[in-house]
Amino acid sequence: MKVFKVTMEKLRLSSDPKRTALLVFYIALPVLPLLALFYQNSNSGLFEGLISKNKVLEGRKPQFGTATVLHGKARNFTGAKDVSFANTSNIPIDHKKLLDGLLAPGYDEGSCLSRYRSYLYRKGSTHKPSSYLISKLRKYEDLHRKCGPHTRHYNRTIGKLIKQNHMNVTTSCNYIVWIATNGLGNRILSMASAFLYAMLTNRVLLVKFQNDMLGLFCEPFLNSSWESPKKFPSMNDHHKNFETYESLLKNDKESNTSRKSWPSILQLDLQHHSSDENGQFFHCDHSQALLGKVPALILSTDQYFVPSLFMVPSFKKVLNKMFPEKDTVFHHLGHYLFHPSNDAWGLITRFYQAYMDKADERIGVQIRVFHPELTTFQIMMKEILECTLQNKVLPELDTQKSVASSWKNRTSKSVLVTSLFPEYAESLRAMYWTTPTVTGDVIGVYQPSHEGKQKFSDNIHNMKAWAEIYLLSLCDVLVTSSESTFGYAAQSLGGLKPWILYKNLGNENPPLCQRAFSMEPCFHFPTTCDCDGKTKLDVASVFPHMRHCEDYDTGVKLVDNHD
Ligand SMILES: *[C@@H]1O[C@H](CO)[C@@H](O)[C@H](O)[C@H]1NC(C)=O
Ligand SMILES: *[C@@H]1O[C@H](CO)[C@@H](O)[C@H](O)[C@H]1NC(C)=O
Ligand SMILES: *[C@@H]1O[C@H](CO)[C@@H](O)[C@H](O)[C@H]1NC(C)=O
Ligand SMILES: *[C@@H]1O[C@H](CO)[C@@H](O)[C@H](O)[C@H]1NC(C)=O
Ligand SMILES: *[C@@H]1O[C@H](CO)[C@@H](O)[C@H](O)[C@H]1NC(C)=O
Ligand SMILES: *[C@@H]1O[C@H](CO)[C@@H](O)[C@H](O)[C@H]1NC(C)=O
Ligand SMILES: *[C@@H]1O[C@H](CO)[C@@H](O)[C@H](O)[C@H]1NC(C)=O
Repeated sequence: MKVFKVTMEKLRLSSDPKRTALLVFYIALPVLPLLALFYQNSNSGLFEGLISKNKVLEGRKPQFGTATVLHGKARNFTGAKDVSFANTSNIPIDHKKLLDGLLAPGYDEGSCLSRYRSYLYRKGSTHKPSSYLISKLRKYEDLHRKCGPHTRHYNRTIGKLIKQNHMNVTTSCNYIVWIATNGLGNRILSMASAFLYAMLTNRVLLVKFQNDMLGLFCEPFLNSSWESPKKFPSMNDHHKNFETYESLLKNDKESNTSRKSWPSILQLDLQHHSSDENGQFFHCDHSQALLGKVPALILSTDQYFVPSLFMVPSFKKVLNKMFPEKDTVFHHLGHYLFHPSNDAWGLITRFYQAYMDKADERIGVQIRVFHPELTTFQIMMKEILECTLQNKVLPELDTQKSVASSWKNRTSKSVLVTSLFPEYAESLRAMYWTTPTVTGDVIGVYQPSHEGKQKFSDNIHNMKAWAEIYLLSLCDVLVTSSESTFGYAAQSLGGLKPWILYKNLGNENPPLCQRAFSMEPCFHFPTTCDCDGKTKLDVASVFPHMRHCEDYDTGVKLVDNHD
């Protein structure tokens, strides 16, 4: 770490800006192995935990993941409006505050400051929720209040469900219990999908959070809770062997006659690694009819499976009414469901006020490297610079001058970098410090901090990640990494179509980046066969409003008609 800092200091003192910019770039490289060593040997917990966690998660598949350290320099923002601590009690509960009716009024504001204050940090969304979506949400809230944990209906249903081998149970309330898998980005996307599935099937969504998810989000449903009580049967109960979706389909196929009895609880595994056959028929009405007979589904998935809900013929009409703009599903559901807890909101607002609020433009750069052995720092940095400069996300350097010539039109740009490592932000900052821009724009580069580390226990990683996703979503322009669910969540919450950096596994002259055609997250593993099980299906060409993802060509994402 020291070595790196010393090198950077030296560079900053160098007098020739042109050389410095280049030097920063190349001299930083040999330092990286040292940096890696430092982090690997560090016992300071945060990095070690995150690195090993990401190693475990590191695979072919997209995941979440950044951890970062503070490298931003505090700026004097005396004049910044202190939106977070403004006295909001005299603001009428208006349309803006309720996000155009998406949120219900009546929540206690102090217990979840972000719920009614998020609008102060976002430019008003140009995407309005449909009145039908709003009415569905209000209906869902009523259902959740009726059937949520510890209500009379819940107690009665649970009593029926936990009786062993109880078949053919009819209950007044039906449930989906969401189980966490994979990283936070995946979890956020899959929870939103589970919620939409619950709304479509009149089920109540309960979520089973382990310790690492506690305290990240506010309760989304008025006068109720979405956290599954410990007593709710789950896959962790060793004495229980629930029937699986797979066996349900298999039995159904083999028996050729209508089934005699239905389990009360079923395990529905839609994870990306689950067997091919498993998720294949999820988009078929017949499968949905079978699932509809089971009162409680225990759902484990790390996927944004919303597109497969749009493929189910019996859901189509309702979905089209709920989302006239097809590319706003996560945008609206995300704003509805995921309100940062007060702790997370503190991280978000303090950072925003210190480093982003006063800037004329906010630029988010989310860097996720899935194969660091192939996508080296040099490769990635080159890609980031070329993509952002060519597309005018960041201004060019004026290497002829030591002081910018045009000061009149100076705009300030705040660049928020999220990455597992500090060197990207370090290089960008050094570059814009040592050399002026051709436009005269002033560039500040910031990476979120450790602040509050000691306040939290084992959910610190996710708390920080959640704050970073949210901060990225408050930017005006986004640059994200291919296949990263972390970036998907940020872009969709922010209503942004990001520049997506291609995954470069060591190419000499690779494509750099591409502008997303839809702000929706990518569903990486859509079905490949039709409901008859024989016809091969190219989802993107068969279903309207779907196209193959920019960054994952077998995946699909929703697009609006107008695109
Ligand atoms: C911040 O800037 C204001 C003027 O804009 C100045 O009065 C104040 O002293 C500055 N504060 C610090 C801590 O530099
Ligand atoms: C906030 O504003 C309300 C109404 O204007 C006022 O009654 C209240 O005292 C204010 N609270 C604070 C903490 O200033
Ligand atoms: C449901 O059961 C819980 C205990 O398991 C109890 O505390 C609660 O009061 C019950 N709710 C109703 C409405 O009876
Ligand atoms: C929610 O609870 C509060 C306090 O118990 C109550 O005043 C309010 O009417 C409830 N709202 C709904 C929609 O049930
Ligand atoms: C189910 O039906 C298929 C043809 O529809 C037949 O080939 C198969 O033998 C039947 N299986 C059973 C268990 O009846
Ligand atoms: C379950 O219901 C079906 C009719 O839907 C019936 O044929 C079957 O016998 C019932 N099974 C049990 C175990 O009660
Ligand atoms: C200066 O800024 C204004 C307003 O942002 C813009 O219209 C104008 O084109 C800019 N001029 C130059 C030379 O960049």
